[in-house]
Amino acid sequence: MAITVLVFFVLFSCSFVFAETEIRFVTWKSQFPKVWDEAIRAFEAEHPGLKIVREIGPHSSTEFHDLVTQKLKNRDPEMDVFFMDVIWPAEFAAAGWALPLDRFFPAGEREKFLSAPILADTYRGQIYGVPVFIDAGMLYYRKDLLARYGFSPPRTWPELVAQAKAVLAKAKDPQLTGFSGQFKQYEGLICNMMEYILSNGGSLWDDDGLRGALHRPEAIEAVQFVRDRIIGEISHRGVLAYQEPESLALFAQGRAVFHRNWPYAWEIANDPQRSRVVGKVGMAVLPAFPGGKSVSTLGGWQLGISRFSRKPDLAWKFVSFMTSPEMQKRIALYAGRAPARRALYRDPDVLKKRPEFESQFETFVHAVPRPRTPVYVPLSNVMQRFFSSAIALRDSNIESLARLASRDMDRVLDLLREGVRP
Ligand code: GLC
Repeated sequence: MAITVLVFFVLFSCSFVFAETEIRFVTWKSQFPKVWDEAIRAFEAEHPGLKIVREIGPHSSTEFHDLVTQKLKNRDPEMDVFFMDVIWPAEFAAAGWALPLDRFFPAGEREKFLSAPILADTYRGQIYGVPVFIDAGMLYYRKDLLARYGFSPPRTWPELVAQAKAVLAKAKDPQLTGFSGQFKQYEGLICNMMEYILSNGGSLWDDDGLRGALHRPEAIEAVQFVRDRIIGEISHRGVLAYQEPESLALFAQGRAVFHRNWPYAWEIANDPQRSRVVGKVGMAVLPAFPGGKSVSTLGGWQLGISRFSRKPDLAWKFVSFMTSPEMQKRIALYAGRAPARRALYRDPDVLKKRPEFESQFETFVHAVPRPRTPVYVPLSNVMQRFFSSAIALRDSNIESLARLASRDMDRVLDLLREGVRP
């Protein structure tokens, strides 16, 4: 009897110890799976006895948000570490879902990172995420085609349309289209539309008065431009269903003159296994409207720890490893991701592989964040619906749709006016 009890006790404690050594990481589907697999193997090799169990969710930020928040709403103790889009920390902090990381991630360490993602990770004075990489919208173009027809990269959106039309007319290639971007109804649509609206002097909402601003003339003009000139004249209507991977595939197949994407697209567009346009690609800042300033949306991803994790200290070991200078360098070199750590923009190996990071640093630093608020996601849903119906239907009444969208945004923003201020 005593022996049975002893065996049971030993087995029980073994399984307990074993369970303690698993860290569950919820991540998205990467376009560079090898880089992440290797990083995780390297962590496990350095930490014998710790095992990372990965759950791989959808690529889309919007769908991935649903997956992670579902687990958090259920207080699921199975998820220890998760990726957070740069727009989520305020929401996760206010809801009590993300663990404050101040005891692990002191101010002196935070200074080594770019300030925009650190600000995005901060809510009411506490820090909730560690930035892994940042994103900023960039213009990709077919260097060979622009040179052949005597163009330099466009400075304004109307110039981009004119160049695309001229190239299409001269190249006479039925497969070629003028532009590919992300116009499906999801978070990427906000990133794209924000670049048009802000580069026309408009805004999504005004921060001081907390009022929706989509019905103002600068915003309406920009949305109309996207519907009538970008989608109506130089893209095929398939872009209305595109997220990043599909829009990049079109460009990499040599079927678009211009393309809007994040910095990692460079790596894929120049990979002979995945691209037909290797060596023919140029990169520039996004155009603006005449009289406006070029605007890049700030994106990027952070690692957070669940408040419901039973092993926050072990989870931190993993977060700290994945955001270390060595890992960010690996992710920059092999996945083309723009590092969140400042020093890597002076690292000789990174600059050798991506010399343009040096000049793009300014664009990264000045990329414009989406508003930082715990009600970002409901606001984004209202905007996504508006943008999608405004650009998808040729005869949409943009003004009246915009007025309705601003009104719905005001209703959500009322929550903040009533005291849920960031
Ligand atoms: C990228 C960005 C993220 C953005 C998303 C939209 O993943 O890093 O911030 O929300 O694209 O598709």
